[in-house]
Amino acid sequence: MSAQEVRVGFIGCGRHATQVLLPTVRQAGMDLAAICDLDKRRAQRATRRFGAFRAYQDLRRMIDEMELDAVLVCGPPEMHAEAAAVALQHGCHVWTEAPPAPTAVEARRVADLAAGRGLVAQVGLMLRFAPAYERLARTIADADLGAPVAFEATYWPPALPGHDEPFAFDALHILDLIRHLLGDVEECSALRADDGRAALTLRMQGGATGVASFLQGGPCVRESVTIAGEDAVATVSDRVVVTTRRRDRDEISVWRADRLGPGEEACTAHLRGYLPELVHFAASVSGESEAAATMAEAATAMRLAEQIAAQGEVQQPA
Ligand SMILES: NC(=O)c1ccc[n+]([C@@H]2O[C@H](COP(=O)([O-])OP(=O)(O)OC[C@H]3O[C@@H](n4cnc5c(N)ncnc54)[C@H](O)[C@@H]3O)[C@@H](O)[C@H]2O)c1
Repeated sequence: MSAQEVRVGFIGCGRHATQVLLPTVRQAGMDLAAICDLDKRRAQRATRRFGAFRAYQDLRRMIDEMELDAVLVCGPPEMHAEAAAVALQHGCHVWTEAPPAPTAVEARRVADLAAGRGLVAQVGLMLRFAPAYERLARTIADADLGAPVAFEATYWPPALPGHDEPFAFDALHILDLIRHLLGDVEECSALRADDGRAALTLRMQGGATGVASFLQGGPCVRESVTIAGEDAVATVSDRVVVTTRRRDRDEISVWRADRLGPGEEACTAHLRGYLPELVHFAASVSGESEAAATMAEAATAMRLAEQIAAQGEVQQPA
């Protein structure tokens, strides 16, 4: 089977699925066989709009009847874990939106189920796949910056309907990206407010230390990650621009993910990471790529998000 032949069913066709994911599944070239939603009319509408063959209200029936290789899941976190477990038990690979379960313990359980059956379980941790962060990750892996010593991250996402636990729904993404770029977190302390703000200080096992500012639903969306190595400093701004400054060189090199060569397309789904993450999932299912952004990795980032959420809120002085 090639990545283009991966036959998928999609469950949960609400806002994010119909605005972002289902068009991207088509763009990624997967064979979209069926769409399922508790809401029958939503499932039927999405089936027509995105050119699937059949609409379902019941996941088990969809899996039984459609000979799927994989199931893609996008709904509330409790539905992610439940649907992923059902799909894995029926021999299907799974991709779920983030967060993949209500708790890290439940995500770990799904990860163990996938590992036990030798199936791919990938989570929608799209930052890793955005071309600008891929470039930063490559630069670090190639030791182009020298050993990382310090970092600074700003992640101020918009407030989205239903994202009422900002650390679980949103901080998860930047925590996963930091781990992806720099390895495991050795120590983390947080000052947080219950309205979805947090200031974090982190020490990584590789020795780098850094700070992260998290603000959900502020007056503007902002995203920036800077990594300082022993030889150079690189910054990714708003998931698009990568600037690099080298020790002893009075110049700044700039690379933009949205300025590709002639004939290449830089659509939003590509720049934001949604298209490459689904292309990668199809390639992992077909055996052309190693699994990435796995359920096990998501469970680790979720555990960190839970620890931060449990740390003290900012107190007013007496
Ligand atoms: N990664 C990102 O950038 C990003 C952005 C937005 C949303 N999300 C995630 O996407 C997910 C969905 O968000 P949304 O705003 O589209 O939600 P939504 O409420 O608009 O849609 C959820 C859909 O799931 C369906 N559903 C719920 N339980 C079901 C079940 N048991 N079986 C079948 N269908 C079921 C509902 O009927 C609904 O159509 C959330 O987990 C959210 O965190 C991720």
